[in-house]
Amino acid sequence: MIDLALIPVAGRGTSLLPLTKSQPKEMLPVGRKPVVQYVVEELIGCQINRLLFITGSGKTAIENHFDTDAELIDYLRVKGREEELAELAFERDEAEYFYMRQRRQLGLGHAVLCAEPFVRKQSFVVALGDTILGLRRRSEIVRRMIAIYEENPEIGGVIAFDEVDAEEVGNYGIATPGKTIDTEGTFELRDLVEKPSVHEASSRLAVAARYVFSPLLFEYLHRVESDAAGDIQLTDAIRAMLLDGHRVFGVRMRPGEGRYDIGSFESYYKAFTDFATLESMGDLEKM
Ligand code: UTP
Repeated sequence: MIDLALIPVAGRGTSLLPLTKSQPKEMLPVGRKPVVQYVVEELIGCQINRLLFITGSGKTAIENHFDTDAELIDYLRVKGREEELAELAFERDEAEYFYMRQRRQLGLGHAVLCAEPFVRKQSFVVALGDTILGLRRRSEIVRRMIAIYEENPEIGGVIAFDEVDAEEVGNYGIATPGKTIDTEGTFELRDLVEKPSVHEASSRLAVAARYVFSPLLFEYLHRVESDAAGDIQLTDAIRAMLLDGHRVFGVRMRPGEGRYDIGSFESYYKAFTDFATLESMGDLEKM
């Protein structure tokens, strides 16, 4: 049973400057919580109890956030502030937290590769620390992905996809789907094309920030060349895997499940307003 997730959080977040000059984008508030807390709670809800953050410079706020702050707990207890104490319940989650550093920001593929000495021969989840899945309730897509992976242990991986509008196709890795394998629309991935134009794209199925991988992925991450910007792209390693004949499946998010990629001001504002609105109406699942 897969119980390990890598959470890459080392990127510079330059698209959100000046907000992210001295604070990680993964720690930006969305309603009452920082982005990455939603990611962690989603994963724990999917029975992932080992969380390995790939961090970088300027990201220590993330480590501090998931530590147990005994002093703060004592302070709130002495003052009888039960409601605020309840807000720290996430500190008592049963998960184990691990941290590794990506010493140079050489792309998402490189961030995942940094975890190889820790992961070794295990299969694992990758969950991007800047994307929230699930609005009214936590997404369980990772649980579905793991089930499919474990039913097909010879495959290279399973990737989450979300159907996006035509004008968004150029912002994502887009699937070329092959045959459908179940009633939920899970498909065999034929190819994955990074940021195609609407005319080039074979579908509107965009990579949705969650992956399950066989440790075989590392072999391909070692093999792929850096792109023009000097980055090692995860998409290139997945394509190389497919080219070598390894099978990868695509799982679709359910309609209305909710995906918030905090990569631009527009999507950040949308995430904040959607969560804050539901929160103020008391309509969010209590974690
Ligand atoms: P992005 O490419 O969206 O993040 O990576 P970025 O590089 O921070 O964004 P911009 O372009 O500068 O605004 C998606 C996730 O992968 C992590 C990021 O922290 C984010 O959670 N990432 C990205 C790394 O961990 N290392 C990298 O070298 C790049």
